[in-house]
Parts: sequence; structure tokens; C-alpha cells
Amino acid sequence: MSGFEETILDEADETVRVRFVVNGRKVACEVAPRETLVDCLRGELELTGTHVGCEMGACGACLVQVDGRAVHSCLMFAVQADGARIDTIEGLTESGAIADLQAEFHRRNALQCGFCTPGMLVNAHELLSQMAQPSREAIRDALSGNYCRCTGYEAIVDAIDAVAKARSVGDAR
Ligand code: FES
Ligand code: FES
Repeated sequence: MSGFEETILDEADETVRVRFVVNGRKVACEVAPRETLVDCLRGELELTGTHVGCEMGACGACLVQVDGRAVHSCLMFAVQADGARIDTIEGLTESGAIADLQAEFHRRNALQCGFCTPGMLVNAHELLSQMAQPSREAIRDALSGNYCRCTGYEAIVDAIDAVAKARSVGDAR
């Protein structure tokens, strides 16, 4: 074996210590330099509510919040998130931040197998934090990167629309 090949093998075996605040808790993990954030969340931290679908940024199953913005965790290396605040579907659920969205999804049967639902909720949460009263077209546009194979989307759009309207009525009181 040449020295060059040995160097590559050594690099592949390296791990790096990263620190995040995940769902309000400080954590440290040893990760390979090429380990994705979603693999770290699911594999090291056992936060399996974040799903893995396409692994290429197309399906939205892996969305989490990194420093308050929705990010495809399949496209981010864990080392890139070092020092960041990460909120997964588990943390958003525990904090109550998306309780109304979850209740409305449930009430309107806006999920069937549920595989896409964590990513849908993270994305809907981001949309409503940026746009208080999105049109149905804007909701559909925002969800264009979230694939759902089950529902046909109508109930999902209905649920997000209903929450946006309910929140704006609440804000006006
Ligand atoms: S798994 Fe990340 S976008 Fe599909
Ligand atoms: S509910 Fe099954 S993929 Fe969306």
C-alpha cells in the first residue's frame, strides 16, 4: 500500500468533537468529518423524529431549525453546525411552538403514514414565522420542497391556512 492510500484511510477514521445546543440542551458528539447533521441527530443523539428520505435536499423529510432557520440536515455536515442552536421536531413539540399546527394536522387528517410530517411542520412553522397570512398559493409554494406520497396536500394546506387565520385572530385580540 502506498503512503498516499494510508493517508486517506487515516483521514476517514478521524473524528471531530462538535458542540451544539440541541432542543435547549448543550451536547457534544464525536463525528466523522463527513457525517451529516441528520445522521448525527438520529444516530448519536437518538432524535429520530427527523427523517431521512432522498438525502439530496429534495424531499424535505430532514428539515430542522439551525439558528432559527429551516435547514436540510441531510445537506449539512455535523461539523458545519458546530456551535449552532438546533431545534428538531422533538424540541418544537416539547416547547409547544407548533402545538396548534400539530392539532390542526391531526384534526384535518393532514397525514397518513406520517413520514413527511416532521419536515412539513418545521417548514410550516418557518413559513408562519415569516408570513403571518400566507395565501393558499404561498403555502403551496412553501411546501413545494416537501414531498408527501400519501395525502394529496389539500388537507395539509387547509391545516396551515387554518392556523394562520386562527393566529391572526388571536393577535388582533
Ligand atoms: S432527506 Fe434531506 S431533503 Fe430529503
Ligand atoms: S403522510 Fe405519508 S408521506 Fe406524507
